[in-house]
Amino acid sequence: MSPGKPTILVTGGAGYIGSHAVLALLQAGYEVLILDNLVYGHRDLVEKVLQVELVVGDTSDRVLLDQLFQSHDIAAVMHFSAYAYVGESVTNPAKYYRNNVVGTLTLLEAMQAASVNKFVFSSTCATYGVPQVIPIPENHPQNPINPYGATKLMVEKILSDFDTAYGFKSVIFRYFNAAGADPHGKLGEDHIPETHLIPLVLQTALGKRESISVFGTDYPTDDGTCIRDYIHVNDLADAHVLGLEYLLRGGDSEVFNLGNGNGFSVKEVIETAKSITGRNIKVVECDRRPGDPPVLIGSSDKARKILNWQPKYSSLKEIITHAWQWHQQRHK
Ligand SMILES: NC(=O)c1ccc[n+]([C@@H]2O[C@H](COP(=O)([O-])OP(=O)(O)OC[C@H]3O[C@@H](n4cnc5c(N)ncnc54)[C@H](O)[C@@H]3O)[C@@H](O)[C@H]2O)c1
Repeated sequence: MSPGKPTILVTGGAGYIGSHAVLALLQAGYEVLILDNLVYGHRDLVEKVLQVELVVGDTSDRVLLDQLFQSHDIAAVMHFSAYAYVGESVTNPAKYYRNNVVGTLTLLEAMQAASVNKFVFSSTCATYGVPQVIPIPENHPQNPINPYGATKLMVEKILSDFDTAYGFKSVIFRYFNAAGADPHGKLGEDHIPETHLIPLVLQTALGKRESISVFGTDYPTDDGTCIRDYIHVNDLADAHVLGLEYLLRGGDSEVFNLGNGNGFSVKEVIETAKSITGRNIKVVECDRRPGDPPVLIGSSDKARKILNWQPKYSSLKEIITHAWQWHQQRHK
């Protein structure tokens, strides 16, 4: 490690995106401390791959947070921990408001008490709701259509108010669909339950699922299926290091989209997965799901310009190839 690089507290660092960000931080020479309640995270990946201190605990535990800020010289927080199942947020909104909003507010108050005022936050394109323009820019109206998106928007508002009142600086990243895996096969996506398209398709290729459901084949798109923006998780992780360094240099609070800029249809994802895996993937065509817009693509020009972010893996082929390497070894 290069001398003098500070310690970063990463909440949710045992989860999918957080673990890739921890690896990127370690590669950039930072000390990392992970706080994760392991409700969805993976202890084995932290212990075997990342090999950093893991505190098993919850962001709503103020006593624990105060201890962590007292016992470690923490310069900034990257906050990945949240619940992120959109459907569940509709049926059990209390769980989402409690964890994603109250848990985050508790963390922010503990930071404020410890005079730590730099924060990188995982927000989402779900804060935009139904897009009025494509690609979606950061100044697009934010009208979330589910409680999950609403919880993230509330935290965005809290961060803005904390800046005004206390000079608290944050970088808010609104991700589109995180996908792919560490290109060296060390880390990858292992949500339980899984709801994301690419891992579901690959689990079907592996025979872990019978078929993949395609919701809607009559959308106004070239092949009739929904188009989404898939951003490689390593490119997301790189952006987090850049966002952190921007704050450590004294940068002002900012909001950035993180997306690919290119959209891929559900059918394209399945066809690409078939060709990469060489396996048959059974498809079941179903009706549209309520609330699914035909096209969701983000503009990430601002992150490229201000953070000098240069995504490395924009092709669907690379994203699915890395995910496939990971799935084969994780589920063998
Ligand atoms: N995966 C995506 O495509 C995507 C898209 C947009 C935004 N996001 C956001 O990115 C973040 C990370 O997503 P992910 O896909 O890596 O999810 P994940 O579930 O893999 O990771 C979240 C981690 O946070 C932990 N956690 C949850 N609540 C906690 C709490 N109160 N205290 C401590 N730990 C807690 C979980 O155990 C898990 O390890 C989330 O905030 C999510 O809302 C994800």
